[in-house]
This record gives sequence, C-alpha cells and structure tokens, in this order.
Amino acid sequence: MKFFIDTANLAHIKEAHELGVLDGVTTNPSLMAKEGITGHDNIIAHYKAICEITDGDVSAEVIATTFDEMVAEGEALAALHPQIVVKVPMIKDGVRAIKYFTGKGIRTNCTLVFSAGQALLAAKAGATYVSPFIGRLDDISTDGLTLIEDIRLIYDNYGYTTQILAASARHPMHIINCAKIGSDVVTAPLSAITALLKHPLTDNGLATFLADYAKAAGK
Ligand code: E4P
Repeated sequence: MKFFIDTANLAHIKEAHELGVLDGVTTNPSLMAKEGITGHDNIIAHYKAICEITDGDVSAEVIATTFDEMVAEGEALAALHPQIVVKVPMIKDGVRAIKYFTGKGIRTNCTLVFSAGQALLAAKAGATYVSPFIGRLDDISTDGLTLIEDIRLIYDNYGYTTQILAASARHPMHIINCAKIGSDVVTAPLSAITALLKHPLTDNGLATFLADYAKAAGK
C-alpha cells in the first residue's frame, strides 16, 4: 500500500520523506489555506516546492467548478510538473473533466467521494485515483471503511485500474484497516503515519537492552 501525506506543510512533507516511506502528497484548498498559502503565484510556487521534496505524485486541486474552467485550470496545473495529479471534485462537470483529462494523458484524483456509485463513475471516466473520504463519513456515524470495501469489490469485479486512495484518514487504525481491506493508497497527516511507530513494549524493550548493555560494560 502506498503512503501519501495529507498536508501542504513543507516541514511535515520533508519529515515523512526522510523517514523513507513517502509515496506522494495530497493537498486541498483548506490545507493550502492552513499554511497561509494564498494568491495564484504563491500557490503555484508551493506546488513546485512540494514536487522538489518528493519523487511521488502530488495532488493539486482545481478551484473551478465548470467544465471549461476545470479543463483550463487542470491543464495549467498538470503543465507545472510531471508529478502533478489534477484533483477534480465529484460533480457532473468534474466527471466530464476527468474523462477529458484521461483522453489527454493527464492524471487525475477524483475527490469528495462518499458513495460506491460515485467511485464507479470516477473509474468509468478513467480517474487515476479515487478519494473516498473515510474520516468524514465516520464523523456522521457512517462506516468509512465499508465504503473502501465496497469500492474494492466493484473495481476488482471489472478490473478497473483506478487506484483507491483512502482520504480523510485521521489516525493509525484508519491506515491499518485500509491496508487490511486492500486500499491501494492511504493519505494521512504526519501524526497518523508516525503513530504507527509507537508501541510501549518497543520503548520498554529498548530501555532494558540499553540498561543491560551499560551494566555489562561496567558503566
Ligand atoms: C485529501 O485528499 C482530502 O482532501 C483530505 O484527506 C480531507 O481530510 P479531512 O476530512 O481530514 O479534511
């Protein structure tokens, strides 16, 4: 399973990259705003800076909501860097735009997906990635992981090559459960990725090994 980091924070992206486990980055307009990145030129420069840190795919989301505008914005984003994947919302014009981009060889990430039917449409339009938002479904008492299972079944039934990118993952159990279900990718904040490292028995065991080593060495 690929690990993407869900942030526009360059320090967090660098830390995940240096850990050696980073396969890509997802951003969205809210994550860019959180880092104070505003204005067209700054946003473009920030995408380029992210592409310099990672070798993986970097999702850059269109702001436009009409077909013609999405095409213009998406083509400009895709031209920025070969690693850029154009993130397109699951709306009618978005599905049309994904189909258009697919025909042009531009890779896409269909975002704001909350149902199996939406994921089926994204795959039929040829999306490179589909982003079901598991955390936001959990937030409204609906099991986000069940959606990942349903999409896995549907895609496997027909051999769709669209990769399932479990988004809105908020904690380590989301990542582990996505891996058990067979999600192709999970995107999560740095805190959820590094939380996978933690186990009290590891910490206790290491402390004991180091203490025993020091005792045996007469320290
Ligand atoms: C990523 O592609 C999504 O935009 C993101 O995972 C949404 O996460 P959130 O629900 O925690 O805002």
